[in-house]
Amino acid sequence: MDKIIIEGGRPLNGTVQISGAKNAALPILAATLLTGGVHRLHNVPPLRDIRTAKTLLYHLGATFEEGDPLCVHTDTVDGHEAPYDLVKTMRASVLVLGPLVARFKRARVSLPGGCAIGARPINLHLSGLERLGVRIDLKHGYVEASAKRLTGNHIYFDIPTVTGTANLMMAAVLAEGQTVIENAAREPEVVDLAHCLNNMGACISGVGSSIITIEGVSKLQPMDHFVMPDRIEAATYLTAAGITRGEITITPCISDHLEAVIHKLEQAGMKFEISEGSIKSVGGEVIRSIDIKTNPYPGFPTDMQAQIMAMMCLAEGQSIITEKIFENRFMHVSELKRMGADISIEGNTAVVRGRPTLQGAPVMATDLRASASLVLAGLAAEGTTEVSRVYHLDRGYEGLEEKLRGVGARIERVKE
Ligand code: EPZ
Repeated sequence: MDKIIIEGGRPLNGTVQISGAKNAALPILAATLLTGGVHRLHNVPPLRDIRTAKTLLYHLGATFEEGDPLCVHTDTVDGHEAPYDLVKTMRASVLVLGPLVARFKRARVSLPGGCAIGARPINLHLSGLERLGVRIDLKHGYVEASAKRLTGNHIYFDIPTVTGTANLMMAAVLAEGQTVIENAAREPEVVDLAHCLNNMGACISGVGSSIITIEGVSKLQPMDHFVMPDRIEAATYLTAAGITRGEITITPCISDHLEAVIHKLEQAGMKFEISEGSIKSVGGEVIRSIDIKTNPYPGFPTDMQAQIMAMMCLAEGQSIITEKIFENRFMHVSELKRMGADISIEGNTAVVRGRPTLQGAPVMATDLRASASLVLAGLAAEGTTEVSRVYHLDRGYEGLEEKLRGVGARIERVKE
């Protein structure tokens, strides 16, 4: 397993190129299953999770022409099973459920187990599919889904689930009649998927709001889609400028996607220059403590909670960070404390008392965004930080070391 070694204490300065969004590319790759033909996907990020998704599609019968665009041939798709050994490595594999039942009227998908950050059940995905006339049986750790036909219906989500909304949109686009999804997720990645589906011939309206309406159609065309830039990767690099008191320009990006993050980083003392497709972030001399609650979009994203906590470890004063989406997303706290951070957890709330410095230390990554948090802390810490188990990072950050070296970080990856 690789590890990343960082010599901290240097302000970062320069420009970082932002890759395509992992959490948009994953449902869009699944959407290629909805029809045969040759699909063209532009700006797909070369990440570990994307490779896993391609392996799953290959297992189902798809073939690929690598490159940008990535071409996905789905005439040969004849499988309907997502096996445990793939789903256990990436829970987003569950996104094939909707497209498979839409096109083939059956699917057998391993139930994703829990994960480091929480139980993350898929009950809302399954109850939504049942509303469309899909029979769901849970057998031997698998979801067995089948239907004579899919019929549009009214679906209400207790929680605005991101992949649940994606799955049900993809199931409904070929159903007979109208489907309304109420309390739908509003995340930009869901909007990007809906734009892609509409370009394939679907009839979806209301995306970006909490009520999405889908008029079923009989056939779709292959996609030709440009994946949106990754807003969480972008926000991570904005935070890198804040924690090192440097100056980083990120491009391409869509500033509307980053409003909640920019608002909070401004409260923390950062300054921003926003122009078409790029954002220049300037770290303040003093990092001010702030209170944060994670919420569904357009609220502050849970996928940025760990990263901004690292920055608050160096703030003046006390910050209260409340994680309202997942029940166990503080795995980075114990590692940050090994670097000298003063953090105490009370339920789903972390109380962060800022300190003047952090010390470099050997730390261990536990999940994707916790890993990013530890890298950020290492960039600001005094001395050397070694982050082990960086395969977590590779799931969601393309070329992290190169991008950080490009703005002056002393960072390298070594074989452990
Ligand atoms: C997506 O996960 C993202 N993953 C996550 O990003 C992100 O943290 C999360 O949305 C929240 O924004 C992808 O898009 C591939 P949810 P998802 O369903 O869809 C509960 C990353 O770092 N819930 O919106 O799995 C669930 O337990 C990853 O890139 C149910 O109870 O998240 C959670 O508490 C990590 N029943 C809440 O809803 C369900 O059927 C939100 O989960 C579904 C969800």
